[in-house]
Amino acid sequence: MAAGLLVVGTGLLGTSVGLALRGDTDVLLHDRDPVAVATAAARGAGRSWDGVEPADHVLLATPPAVVAEELVRLQRLGVGRTWSHVSSVQAPVQAAAQAAGAELAALCGTHPMAGKESSGAQAASADLFRGRPWALCPSAHTGPDALAAVRSLAERCGGVPLELPAQEHDEAVALASHLPQVTASALAAVLLARSAGQQVRLAGPGLQDTSRIAASAPQLWVEVLSANAAAVGPLVRELAGELDRAATALEQLDRGAVEDLLVRGNAGRALVAVKRGGHDRDFAVVGVSVPDRPGQIAGVLLAAADAGVNVEDVRVDHLPGRPSGVVELLVAADTREDARAALAAAGWAVLP
Ligand SMILES: NC(=O)c1ccc[n+]([C@@H]2O[C@H](COP(=O)([O-])OP(=O)(O)OC[C@H]3O[C@@H](n4cnc5c(N)ncnc54)[C@H](O)[C@@H]3O)[C@@H](O)[C@H]2O)c1
Repeated sequence: MAAGLLVVGTGLLGTSVGLALRGDTDVLLHDRDPVAVATAAARGAGRSWDGVEPADHVLLATPPAVVAEELVRLQRLGVGRTWSHVSSVQAPVQAAAQAAGAELAALCGTHPMAGKESSGAQAASADLFRGRPWALCPSAHTGPDALAAVRSLAERCGGVPLELPAQEHDEAVALASHLPQVTASALAAVLLARSAGQQVRLAGPGLQDTSRIAASAPQLWVEVLSANAAAVGPLVRELAGELDRAATALEQLDRGAVEDLLVRGNAGRALVAVKRGGHDRDFAVVGVSVPDRPGQIAGVLLAAADAGVNVEDVRVDHLPGRPSGVVELLVAADTREDARAALAAAGWAVLP
């Protein structure tokens, strides 16, 4: 009997799929790097593939540039019934697969909208895809079995399938994922240029949030951005225009123009879902000052649970050089006052 799934490329994405399916699916693991397979297997993502055992579905989680050649090579071995890949850019991979002579009816491109700035099997996690959109991008040739297989895979991993054409997907991720990557990298590059001074040492949550993905692996991102350059380039120009106008407004002390940017920024930010489709406006923050001692974060969360407060999310802000920090609980806006009162009554230093 065939195994349920063969994962080719046991890095962050491939290993996370194996971990998510643990106990549900018999998963085989393959990578050109034997250490990556050993790490994924040791973490419980599946068992090492022997090069011949067939699987119902084969998922290619390699860098996009090698998907087409690996796909054709493995299809010729006849080791899978249906096939998918998880490339961050879909249309060029679809075109490359067709040009390489892949069996297209059995293939459906997919892209889980989940990831991290770190790569490799060690960084993988079972809940990476939980509640996250998972794009399914069938081509005109994709057959119903391949589409059904990837839909089922996405659901079993905890993702929320969303079907759309490859071109539409690539334009959407240019805005939602690729522009933020260029922005964070450019911001962090400015920090680097100024690193001789004291400024970076004053970094707070704003800089931490906006620069986080600047830590992403350059090799993979050069590939992703190059593959989607036609869609990303104009957006970067548009951003550069905003920044250029902001610089002029600041040089000329044009308060109206600066305010206009900030107000439009508020409106744009309100479009971004932050949790399960919820937006900033749906949540309120309850800040609690805590000493930098073991157990404080757990203590705040337990007090919230004891008081029946449903905590939607948690952020922790460490104050540089100070023996204290702030735990921020995100709660439904209409429960904020009750949550504040309950935590204060439990002896916690609730911030105004
Ligand atoms: N990292 C993210 O946030 C993210 C999110 C969504 C989708 N993706 C996509 O997932 C894919 C993998 O990304 P990742 O972050 O897991 O990368 P990764 O570097 O963690 O893992 C890639 C793995 O593929 C292996 N590999 C490379 N060439 C191979 C080949 N010819 N045969 C077999 N294995 C090979 C590498 O050894 C490595 O273990 C990429 O297509 C990427 O666009 C990444």
